[in-house]
Amino acid sequence: MASPDTEKTTGKGLAGVIALDTEICFIDGQKGILIYSGYDIGDLAAHCSFEEVAFLLWNGRLPDDRELRDLSLRLASERTLPPMVIDTLRLMPEDADPMAALRTGVSILSLFDGEADDMSPEANMRKAIRLTARIPVIIAALDRLRKGEEMVDPLKDGSTATNFLYMMSGQKPGEAAERTFDACLVLHAEHGLNASTFTGRVIGATLSDMYSAITGAIGALKGPLHGGANIRVMEMLTAIDRSGSSPTTFVKKLLADKERVMGFGHRVYKTIDPRATILREMVDSLSAEQGTRKWYDMSLEIMDVMAKNKNLYPNVDFFSASVYATLGISTDLFTPIFAMARITGWSAHLLEQWKDNRLIRPRAAYTGPVGRTTGRS
Ligand SMILES: CC(C)(COP(=O)(O)OP(=O)(O)OC[C@H]1O[C@@H](n2cnc3c(N)ncnc32)[C@H](O)[C@@H]1OP(=O)(O)O)[C@@H](O)C(=O)NCCC(=O)NCCS
Repeated sequence: MASPDTEKTTGKGLAGVIALDTEICFIDGQKGILIYSGYDIGDLAAHCSFEEVAFLLWNGRLPDDRELRDLSLRLASERTLPPMVIDTLRLMPEDADPMAALRTGVSILSLFDGEADDMSPEANMRKAIRLTARIPVIIAALDRLRKGEEMVDPLKDGSTATNFLYMMSGQKPGEAAERTFDACLVLHAEHGLNASTFTGRVIGATLSDMYSAITGAIGALKGPLHGGANIRVMEMLTAIDRSGSSPTTFVKKLLADKERVMGFGHRVYKTIDPRATILREMVDSLSAEQGTRKWYDMSLEIMDVMAKNKNLYPNVDFFSASVYATLGISTDLFTPIFAMARITGWSAHLLEQWKDNRLIRPRAAYTGPVGRTTGRS
């Protein structure tokens, strides 16, 4: 009988473990720095569109004008769902969890993609663009169909942000709404080896196809400790609003009851998440333009209480909740929107994984019983 492993496990939850090399993203959690392919996130959010950032993540450099035009045309040409996928979306229960519905929708897309199992880099790049174009269409369709409304066809051109807001409401968004939403997509596009990206890379490393990896990644993002947190943030803000108590009283009670305050803390950032700082500025000006500061003011008070009482700072989910609420988006679509941006990071990691693939297969330290026998003969 082999003896059990005596080696110590690494930190619980693989904390601090470096599992692979990447050129896509760098995070310094102590200093609150986030960099995509060498560019600071603040620079990208202020000066680049989501499409430029998608190109950057996939190719390691920003596109020139012609490349950006080509990508925009390809995204526009891919914003049509196969009819059978639309039929399936129509069959989904009205109260289906949108993340479960999106996970299913993406999985079904693979059945109608003749290139699904073509693992050439060119075909995988085309699938990354196709998924980036189609995930927003699925989310907007799910939202309209469950409300008993017909789907709105995408525009012939325009950005991902414009098209999504248009397909949701049937109206072209205003400039501030488009700009803010586009920046939200940039901020959520990539974040190193987070749980969903790791999930995607583990699946991809078996040489399974991109749709399988992205379906798995969506499953991981659905969890409340990952992408699901922005929904919980909004539920908390709504509960505070309804309770009539102040944000300070409400949050102090949560802490006294040893509950987690959603949108705070991060496995990597030990200071404020730089994306939260950018989002905070955006929600400030968006709230001013929309004439409603309710969610923003509430958020600022909670931030203050958490810093003073727990030394914990907001993560990206905290302020993204008030941005989307101010844009009039239903709370349960917040995580699907996260997926709509993160598809670029997930697919970039898959392309990187497949350039120099090796099966990802760690070991577990065995801590169970040894030397047992059944006693049977
Ligand atoms: C993100 C998160 C899972 C990181 O977890 P982690 O690195 O494993 O940190 P831990 O769960 O070990 O927490 C460390 C300590 O901080 C506390 N803590 C962490 N996040 C907290 C939160 N949001 N509210 C209250 N306390 C929190 C824990 O209770 C724990 O305290 P203890 O040592 O007294 O038990 C965690 O901060 C969390 O649950 N946040 C809320 C969910 C969220 O916003 N997720 C989105 C992430 S982008």
